[in-house]
Amino acid sequence: MARAALLPVALLLCLALAGSANAERKPVGFYGLKNKKGDFSIKVTNWGATLVSVLVPDCQGNLADVVLGYDTLRGYVNGTGSFGATVGRVVNRIAKSRFVLDGKAYRLFRNDGNNSIHGGHRGFGKVIWTVKEYVRGGDTPYITFFYHSFDGEQGFPGDLDVYVTYQLSGPYELSIRMNATATSKATPDAMRKVAFVRDPESGRALELWANQPGVQLYTSNWVSNEKGKAGKVYEQYGALCLETQAYPDAVNHPEFPSSIVRPGQVYKHDVLFKFSN
Ligand SMILES: *[C@@H]1O[C@H](CO)[C@@H](O)[C@H](O)[C@H]1NC(C)=O
Ligand SMILES: *[C@@H]1O[C@H](CO)[C@@H](O)[C@H](O)[C@H]1NC(C)=O
Ligand SMILES: *[C@@H]1O[C@H](CO)[C@@H](O)[C@H](O)[C@H]1NC(C)=O
Repeated sequence: MARAALLPVALLLCLALAGSANAERKPVGFYGLKNKKGDFSIKVTNWGATLVSVLVPDCQGNLADVVLGYDTLRGYVNGTGSFGATVGRVVNRIAKSRFVLDGKAYRLFRNDGNNSIHGGHRGFGKVIWTVKEYVRGGDTPYITFFYHSFDGEQGFPGDLDVYVTYQLSGPYELSIRMNATATSKATPDAMRKVAFVRDPESGRALELWANQPGVQLYTSNWVSNEKGKAGKVYEQYGALCLETQAYPDAVNHPEFPSSIVRPGQVYKHDVLFKFSN
């Protein structure tokens, strides 16, 4: 894996989630992973294979949640921020919502002017994933989500089987591993993981490792008056987000690294968040 970025990030003390084990609507729910020492934990939901919370200690040992999100599933379903979501089939913009692959033209759902963004109106961050495995105990607890994307979904060609695994892989290390297999036709595929981080002075630092050709730094330009966790209101530039991904609009740029997954090939996207203080 290539080292994508090292940045010192200071983080804000927020309240932990309350009552989050109660899913509002089956079969969608919240799932927790915690280290043995009890001072590092995350919460995720199978709605959009979304990262909901990350509790890490600061230099005084105080735990705080360092990612943006919502207290309830309704917040995620209704929210506009894509906070913590697994975004696909293709993240970022595809110009004019169209591309040609193997001589055939495809039209995608337009949801950004004439462009298509984040997999369309109902991308991977807005669908219900299946919980394949959930291992809460041991040194490296993990959960694996699965989603089958059908041929033609949001305009994209071919069936795609997608897995996302969240794992506490080491001390204050969160590993996110994604893979996708095209089971019928070739398809563009460029998922990324988004994680928003807040920023006063707590001594916390974040290292991000990923195996993708690109990383987008998003500074919450489009966040405005968004009601988040524990009564907090998120504003423009209130957080930053590092999005590991293929180059934007790669499917229309043969000179960029290819984002095409053909039948028999596997797309693998690994991300490692290392926290320290
Ligand atoms: C849904 O979103 C709208 C617009 O962003 C917001 O005003 C409203 O408070 C949200 N409702 C819930 C239940 O989160
Ligand atoms: C969308 O494309 C049409 C036709 O090319 C053009 O006239 C229009 O200005 C474009 N809209 C935006 C928002 O770019
Ligand atoms: C994709 O990930 C899942 C879950 O970790 C794993 O079982 C599967 O073997 C992986 N597929 C490939 C082709 O690597």
